[in-house]
Amino acid sequence: MCGIVGYVGFEDVKKIILCGLEKLEYRGYDSAGIAIADNNNVYICKEKGRISNLRECMDGTVSGKLGIGHTRWATHGVPNKINSHPHQSSSKRFTLVHNGIIENEEELRHKYLNGIKFTSDTDTEVIVQLIEKFVGDGESVELAIRHTMSELKGSYALAIIDSEDMNTLYAAKNKTPLLAGKGEGFNMIGSDAMAMINYTNIFYEIEDKEFLKITRDSIEIYTIYGNRVLREPYKADIDASDTEKGTYPHYMMKEIEEQPFVIRKIMSEYSDDNGNMYIDPEIVENVRSCDKLYIIACGTSYHAGLIGKQFFEKIAAKPTEVIIASEFIYNMPLLPENPLFMFISQSGETADCRAVLVKVKEMGYKTLTLTNVKGSTLSREADNTLLLHAGPEIAVASTKAYTAQIAVLSILAAMVDNRVNIDIFKELSKIAYTMETLCDDKDNYREFAEKYLVNSRNCFYIGRSMDYYLCLEASLKLKEISYIQTEGFAAGELKHGTIALIEQGTPVIAVITQENINLNTRSNIKEVKTRGAATMVISLRRLSQETDAIVIDDVNELLSPLAAIIPAQYLAYYAALLKGCDIDKPRNLAKSVTVE
Ligand code: M6R
Repeated sequence: MCGIVGYVGFEDVKKIILCGLEKLEYRGYDSAGIAIADNNNVYICKEKGRISNLRECMDGTVSGKLGIGHTRWATHGVPNKINSHPHQSSSKRFTLVHNGIIENEEELRHKYLNGIKFTSDTDTEVIVQLIEKFVGDGESVELAIRHTMSELKGSYALAIIDSEDMNTLYAAKNKTPLLAGKGEGFNMIGSDAMAMINYTNIFYEIEDKEFLKITRDSIEIYTIYGNRVLREPYKADIDASDTEKGTYPHYMMKEIEEQPFVIRKIMSEYSDDNGNMYIDPEIVENVRSCDKLYIIACGTSYHAGLIGKQFFEKIAAKPTEVIIASEFIYNMPLLPENPLFMFISQSGETADCRAVLVKVKEMGYKTLTLTNVKGSTLSREADNTLLLHAGPEIAVASTKAYTAQIAVLSILAAMVDNRVNIDIFKELSKIAYTMETLCDDKDNYREFAEKYLVNSRNCFYIGRSMDYYLCLEASLKLKEISYIQTEGFAAGELKHGTIALIEQGTPVIAVITQENINLNTRSNIKEVKTRGAATMVISLRRLSQETDAIVIDDVNELLSPLAAIIPAQYLAYYAALLKGCDIDKPRNLAKSVTVE
């Protein structure tokens, strides 16, 4: 979703802001803009579409040492040049970029800004006009920004330039991610570490309702009331090369192929000096002692949660419920006395999850976050965090974070109570090896994608039990990047209505990795085949039949989704590639979904 970046220092800011914006591209956007403070002028360039458009239309002669940039994912107002950020106050004294949504913009327009001519349809313009209004009323710039913050309802990360002080960058945050980056002779702000990682890996976390005053030599953090906050910075364990594609054509392929490495990394991060599984005992005890575990997540992370439920119930005998974050508030289950809430989120920033986290914390319940991003909002605000150690995931379609989530969940479940005596590390090692052999077979998946998927309007993934949960993720991958309408379906449920959609040539991909469902799923394949479906089977070797298209070497059935997802990820990748889709940045989607 929208991203912001800002810099104040000694170098030409244009290059730095554009580089930061490119690093934020993965979050998803539909327009971009930049403001550069240049000899008491603020130069603005903004365009609909890609950052490359922005590069092309920028005046190459402009340079400055203070700048802000923005990638916009439209919410208020269509994606066009006028609605793109930065926005300016009427006198053009203040220039601002904003990530988030202001809920009371209408009310504020009526209360304070009658007579002001607005140029865009955005909620953001209200913020910059309010700052100017309060300064006009006699407030200092700092007070006016804090005053504005106190009037705003909603979410915001802001970066602000005052054309009367070209040495200071102002920023503010509420409910939307923002980090400050500390450099030598410069300082930065950004929506995430990635935006700044080419320049620094030292960061300050910023809390909600905090205000920042930044010069090239200092980062001052204040509360909304103007009290100075003293905070230690932290060093991020990523470097710029982790965010590069290298020789891969797309981030998605790189991230698919990193999965065996990620599984091995997770084993090393979650082991003690003797090579045994190790997780912070407090976390293990919290899961062990809760009456019921509630997993809250969205999208791919929700699908990982469904697999996690099987681990907690089958390995550790711990009752577990998995709930889509955006549904939780409306359908809050009857809670037992001592529930534990686990949030699964690759980004750690998903607003739907955060809304639940805030709610259950208010209710006094214990919380745990499973995330890939150290220092992210969900990580900071939960009682405990388990990290995925998957390295930055840039492609919008989540791949390695999904398998990392499942791997960490399996280790946690076995640490809580290993009732089935599964040797998780031994099985995960096998999985990592099997993943490699599956990756080696990618040319085959390309052929299948060409034969079954490229010319199809729709597609089904079917399976039962664990395979059904895997199918939900497989279908999400295919639809989100290839735009082929795909459903993940419980194989046994098809005949209760949805089978009506099967026509001559409809692709139906069946997944069979569990012995107890093998024969039933095979019957369901016959049902659709007789109605004209073009069927294709992904199976485990010991359950396979000669005609199965993709056969996976035998792995433990409980952990089989970790292997079975690999061909599905590639099928999605190649279907999108062959259809000419933008694989890493599919339309309408954002990597980090920071609005509810
Ligand atoms: O960062 P999160 O894991 O909380 O994100 C949740 C979903 O938005 C995310 O998994 C989304 O479904 C992916 N694009 C799927 O590939």
